[in-house]
Amino acid sequence: MISHFNVPATVVVGAGASRQLVPQLERLGVRRVLFVTDRYMIDRGTAGALVADLLQAGLEAVVFSGVQPDPTDRNVAAGLALLRERKCEAVVALGGGSPLDAAKAIAVLATNAEPLAQYQGYHRVPRPGVPLLAIPTTAGTGSEVTKVAVITDTTRDVKMMMLDRHLLPTVALVDFELTLSMPPALTAHVGVDTLTHGIEAYVSRKATALTDPLALQCIALTAEHLETAWREPGNRAAREGMMLAATLGGMAFANSSVALVHGMSRPIGALFHVPHGLSNAVLLPTVTRFSLPGAPERYATVARTMKWCGADVSAADAGRLLVDGLAALNARLEVPRLRACAGVEAGRFGDSLAKMSADALASGSPQNNPVVPTAEQIAELYREAF
Ligand SMILES: [Fe+2]
Repeated sequence: MISHFNVPATVVVGAGASRQLVPQLERLGVRRVLFVTDRYMIDRGTAGALVADLLQAGLEAVVFSGVQPDPTDRNVAAGLALLRERKCEAVVALGGGSPLDAAKAIAVLATNAEPLAQYQGYHRVPRPGVPLLAIPTTAGTGSEVTKVAVITDTTRDVKMMMLDRHLLPTVALVDFELTLSMPPALTAHVGVDTLTHGIEAYVSRKATALTDPLALQCIALTAEHLETAWREPGNRAAREGMMLAATLGGMAFANSSVALVHGMSRPIGALFHVPHGLSNAVLLPTVTRFSLPGAPERYATVARTMKWCGADVSAADAGRLLVDGLAALNARLEVPRLRACAGVEAGRFGDSLAKMSADALASGSPQNNPVVPTAEQIAELYREAF
């Protein structure tokens, strides 16, 4: 079987990597950039410091901070209008998955026809976008190294998943120092999202010889560092480990795939605005239990990589230990049950099960799962996770 593997042409990793932005822009011959970020990065001063670097080097930056959590087609349209009006030659993205995904959409719409919705799905973007430099501040979505963007279509209330190599950033600047002040709850949610990337990339029907080692290393680093990063936000070794885990997990799932957890997670985000990391974290134990029979050996390897059992334990027992271990990890990290997430109301949740199950299936991700569920089974899993 032939597989393709795409990652950004340049990935700069390490303490202070974000300050390589100016030399990277100069290398690309870019003078004026659209700087896409969100309110939080402006208020914290992270965006200001990087923009100051650009101005000092004689470059021009047009700041667009109108990206909301769960970015929408309207956010993308506003950023694109600014890019056109100010004739920006490249896009710089700073933040978590939301600014990075919005920036990807803006960069490709700069050179491709609107509307964005026509690019939903796989390999639908005809032309490369303008250069995109991505600087992640969470660890994380891995968006800085993926060819995936998720944008909410506000007319249909659907999170559109787009996968295309033209969505890959040109440069990723992976600087763990930007994550040192992340609050514990966010650290937990995006950290379990990272773990989900590693697990889903590894058990996916589309896993490849190139993605397996990246996925397993993502899982091993998460096992080693996530709880420390959550307990001790300033722990540099733990933050560095989680940042690497996020980047490796991104490379793995973007070239393998995500599966049922992500497929079921997006409708929760679209309808109830539960953040991406949290909605994955609440689903991971339940969906793993459902999926075990489809890939028992692979799940056993995940359990062993987490160091939750040794090589002498049978695959069946390792699978059970994995499910229990994931539930216990969520409990230690204070990940709430789905019913306790802000915005999720029991009545509306029950009424939405049919739409959420249909939208999950339509996204294509459940079809990569070790066990491919029916819509009824997805609804049952939502009820269980609730
Ligand atoms: Fe994710």
